[in-house]
Amino acid sequence: MSTQTGNIDRAGSDTSEQDDPMLGALQQVEAEYREMQAEVADKDAALAQQEAALAEQNAALAEARQASAELRDELALNQGLLESERRKTRRERARTKEMAAQLREIHAALFSGNIYDLILKACLTLTGATRGVYLTARGNDDNSLRVRAAIGMNEYPALLPSEFIRGLTLRVLHADDESFIYNTPQDFAQFSAPSRPSEQFRNCVTASVVLLRDLDGVVVVADKANGDFDPEDVETLLHVGSQASVTVENARLRRELEMAYFATVGVLADAMEAKDPYTYGHAEMVARHCLRIANHLELSAEERNIVAYAALLHDVGKIGVSDGILNKPGMLLPEERNLMRSHVRIGHDLLQRVPALTRAADILLHHHEWYDGNGYPDGLAGDAIPLLARIVAVVDAYSAMITARSYKGAIPDAEARAELRRCMGTQFDPQVVEAFLSVLDLPVENEELEEAFPDFARLLHEHKHLQAGFEAHGGQEIARA
Ligand SMILES: [Fe+2]
Repeated sequence: MSTQTGNIDRAGSDTSEQDDPMLGALQQVEAEYREMQAEVADKDAALAQQEAALAEQNAALAEARQASAELRDELALNQGLLESERRKTRRERARTKEMAAQLREIHAALFSGNIYDLILKACLTLTGATRGVYLTARGNDDNSLRVRAAIGMNEYPALLPSEFIRGLTLRVLHADDESFIYNTPQDFAQFSAPSRPSEQFRNCVTASVVLLRDLDGVVVVADKANGDFDPEDVETLLHVGSQASVTVENARLRRELEMAYFATVGVLADAMEAKDPYTYGHAEMVARHCLRIANHLELSAEERNIVAYAALLHDVGKIGVSDGILNKPGMLLPEERNLMRSHVRIGHDLLQRVPALTRAADILLHHHEWYDGNGYPDGLAGDAIPLLARIVAVVDAYSAMITARSYKGAIPDAEARAELRRCMGTQFDPQVVEAFLSVLDLPVENEELEEAFPDFARLLHEHKHLQAGFEAHGGQEIARA
């Protein structure tokens, strides 16, 4: 019965599935539902994908934020460092200004003019002589005889005295008599023959100049315009000597003050070297080479002295640049480079108010100009740059190349020379480079150089003496204080 019923039901059902409109509608709804479900699933998947991408972007953004925060911190640190460098530089500048004020005070006590020239001129005028020389000696050392002034004898005072002049002078220095008169050729027979045309004296008088019981020097006046020299002329000479004593004593004081001035500038230079240990001895090396070039180019004695001063002090302005910048390894930032470049102006300002050093001050100002106008501070080009500054520029660059610095190693000598040649006409004056390369290998002993330029020997001696005293008192600590 149940089986039958089932059959009937199934049969009935089959029939009703085909025919029942409700069921059809339901099936359609179900199909639509499934379709929608699939659509929703697709959208879910797309959404999940978008969410994943968004998470990835968020992570990248967080990373970028982190990096930016780190950069900001670094920038703040660098700004702090730069600010402290600026403060240090301001302090150094204030100290330099104070030192310059002291230098000016020292110089205010000086007066200019070569006192030996003045004495000699007075002797010639009063005796009617037409030429003459003024010589000095130190103690009993006959080899220390030097000509300090000359009139009508053009080879002096640059040259050392000839045997003839030495003979005349030493006779006064070694005898008890204060003076001698020579009016005939026989009177000169006891001396070596004159070796220069201007020494072919017709007649002459020699007299000692005594200052406050110390023998200072000997005056030789010659070729009286009219007639022979007589005892009255000798009296006049000795009188001039004593009258001049006060003036010469003043000249001595002036010399001492000049020494005091140089000592102060020397201490500045030493302090600068202590700040930048890589440049130790650099200034002296530059000065020696500059003198050799000046000699090769046959510059005047005055210009040789100026270039020696300028070379010894060419970087003294670095006293106003902080240690952090001077000794920074690696490249300088633009602002740091400007501070470094300011050393030419500081050095110039330090020396320019002293009349004897105004030309040296100009060389300090322009020793970083380029021959083609691309240097600093004024972008001068060619001959507009002082010749002595062009000389210092070449030697400074060569010396810097062959020695190690905090920011670079040393390069071999041959490469440094090649570099000078390569930069002829751009950075350097070709004529100066040629002169330098031609004197670089000449075997000139230091002693010979100092013999030829007594003033340089004096400067160097003073410089070294100060340096020794400076180091003995813990120079580095003082300089950095
Ligand atoms: Fe320099």
